[in-house]
Amino acid sequence: MEKMKSNESVHKGVRNLLLAMLAVLPAAVSAGPSGQAMAFTCAGCHGTDGSSVGPSMPAIAGMDPEVFVDAMKAYRQDERNSSIMNRIAKAYSDEQFKAMAWFFASQRLQLFPQKYDAALASRGSELHDEHCEKCHENGGRPGDAGTLAGQWMPYLQYTMEDFINGKRKWPRKMKRKVDAAIEEAGDDAIPALVNYYGSQR
Ligand code: HEC
Ligand code: HEC
Repeated sequence: MEKMKSNESVHKGVRNLLLAMLAVLPAAVSAGPSGQAMAFTCAGCHGTDGSSVGPSMPAIAGMDPEVFVDAMKAYRQDERNSSIMNRIAKAYSDEQFKAMAWFFASQRLQLFPQKYDAALASRGSELHDEHCEKCHENGGRPGDAGTLAGQWMPYLQYTMEDFINGKRKWPRKMKRKVDAAIEEAGDDAIPALVNYYGSQR
């Protein structure tokens, strides 16, 4: 309980910071700009060409275009928990989502080193192989189930909490596997997985 509370206040802090950043962004997005031109609007948070400098802004370079469009639609419809993206997504059409999706998919993901716990990461590697690799192939490198490898650890941590707390819809058949990992490793399961993904470069 205590732990959840402090996470929530961290989330609030992040949210206020993001709202402040949003206020200084170029205002309007007119019809018809290219995916690349629109992507400039995202760079302040997601980094140059989608390789964010973290830690709660996910990297989106190399992201599968379908996963990207689904994510943006879910934000626009307030179906996915969000500190800021729900507001941003409302400014774009489906066509614009697609144009940006192709632009980001074609960018190379640049990963930044993160501090991780080696023992947890090694436990996470086993859990990943057993429960997650089937869909998140190659250790979770960018693919049609998103990007986990090298993704920012704070982002992964709160994303897993959102799934578990019902604030983000489970991808088909994923819940069973996360439940199985938690059954196997208890409270260590999520930190172990997060440290494993964060250990990858
Ligand atoms: C003010 C900062 C900010 C800006 C500007 C911003 N984002 Fe985000 N983005 C975030 C944060 C933070 C998240 C995590 C969800 C949340 O809390 O809203 C996120 C999440 C995402 C995700 C989900 C990634 C995943 O792995 O599932 C996508 C896709 C995305 N943003 C695309 C964009 C695009 C495209 C733009 C520009 C049109 C943009 N963002 C502009 C902060 C920002
Ligand atoms: C049956 C397939 C499947 C399995 C097994 C699976 N996932 Fe997923 N996962 C997905 C798909 C598909 C997505 C894409 C995003 C979406 O649809 O919301 C995803 C998204 C995610 C995300 C969000 C990524 C982002 O960028 O926001 C995380 C974190 C994640 N999975 C972790 C795990 C972990 C950890 C395991 C193993 C315990 C696991 N998944 C097992 C299919 C799966």
